[in-house]
Amino acid sequence: MSCCYVLDLRLAPQGVPSATYTYSILREMGPGETMRIWSPDEPTLFMAQLQNHMRHTLVWEAVTDGRGYLITLHIRGPHEPLALADTLRREHDDMDACLVRSLALVGAEQWTAAVAEVARLDRTLRTHILLENELLAPLAAREAQEPTSLMRREHDDILVQLDAIQEVCQVSKGSCGELGTWLGLLAATLNKHEYREEVSLFSLWERASDREGAPLLDEVRRRLAPTAS
Ligand SMILES: [Fe+2]
Ligand SMILES: [Fe+2]
Repeated sequence: MSCCYVLDLRLAPQGVPSATYTYSILREMGPGETMRIWSPDEPTLFMAQLQNHMRHTLVWEAVTDGRGYLITLHIRGPHEPLALADTLRREHDDMDACLVRSLALVGAEQWTAAVAEVARLDRTLRTHILLENELLAPLAAREAQEPTSLMRREHDDILVQLDAIQEVCQVSKGSCGELGTWLGLLAATLNKHEYREEVSLFSLWERASDREGAPLLDEVRRRLAPTAS
């Protein structure tokens, strides 16, 4: 990677989170550009926050000299499509954001807007689950039997919760309190579920996707569209 922008997080303004400070500079950069960052701390969490801000468009690596970490990161250019795991992480982030918006609307007693947001979440989440069950789970079914079975069981639980939420939306007109309770339950379930998938299955799916080549990734993008863009 050739380099241009250089950032030392030890010089970041006091009270400003490192990820926020770095994002304020990154968002002024363009696709294909590169930055080097010196961080006194191990960068995994910091990079997860940055990826969230940058919608998983960053490719990065870090080396350490024992006193700190030199991170080299690169914003994917227009001809560098997202890999499978980043595509799925981006959709997890989008669903989380949709759920947070739904909860905020429920909190503000905006029933109609909350139900519309919940309908969006319902469509995206059901599509996402179908994709993982049908297309991705078989990719690592033998290598990761237990995580794959657990994922399928959790999907069943999530679908039951989505059905219950749909029922609340149809039956309990204006009952924001009950909808909020169900959404809170879904948020807790989804949080653990997404984390487990990202840790135990995404790298296996990514390796399988590398073996399968472009057709698999194209099929994932086709099924997730328009939410994957
Ligand atoms: Fe899932
Ligand atoms: Fe997922």
